[in-house]
Amino acid sequence: MSVTDQPPPAPDPAADPAQAALHDRIAADSLTTRRDYLRIVATVSGGLAVGGIAVAGGVLHRHGDSDAPPDAKRVALTLAPGESIAFRFPGDDDRAVAVRLKDGTLVGYSAVCTHLACGVLWREERGSEGELYCPCHEGVFDARTGEVTAGPPPRPLPRVLLVEEADGGVWAVATARSGESVEHAMCRQFADKPGMAARIGCPGANGKVAERSTRT
Ligand code: FES
Repeated sequence: MSVTDQPPPAPDPAADPAQAALHDRIAADSLTTRRDYLRIVATVSGGLAVGGIAVAGGVLHRHGDSDAPPDAKRVALTLAPGESIAFRFPGDDDRAVAVRLKDGTLVGYSAVCTHLACGVLWREERGSEGELYCPCHEGVFDARTGEVTAGPPPRPLPRVLLVEEADGGVWAVATARSGESVEHAMCRQFADKPGMAARIGCPGANGKVAERSTRT
């Protein structure tokens, strides 16, 4: 499967109770500790979500613009090592890509090049673990980190936070801004969900963060 394949149809929240249930579970108690949570959250990074002049001019939406968590979206029923899937997240115009690296690590990124906003492609056969490639000006991004490894892109690909369910389903749940840590991105977007914020270890969440952070 490649990023040029069409993504599976997005579940309609009104017609897919599983989506709403997943979001609730994420926000409530499906994840038990900050460490556990971050282990299953596959990714997030920095870099403005949309690069180039259009972004500089504020024309295009950027991943991570909102402080509210986007609706969780199932992007794949399963994803095997070496496979990728293209999808739109958090909005219908926001191109994104999820990749299962050969060692099983699940990563997700904006698929909009940070140079001039061309579409980024997954090339499994390149390097030791594949790469994300922009054909417009030969931009290359590290598949594991989203960092720029070649070409003119000025910033890393912004990451998309992914969660994998026990049945193998892959869900996109949040995004990050340029240079933003996974933890900060999650705390920002789940600030109005105290239970989740506490599990992540967000500052001020239920007054338990400092206690937890001294143990981890
Ligand atoms: S638009 Fe991607 S390298 Fe130029």
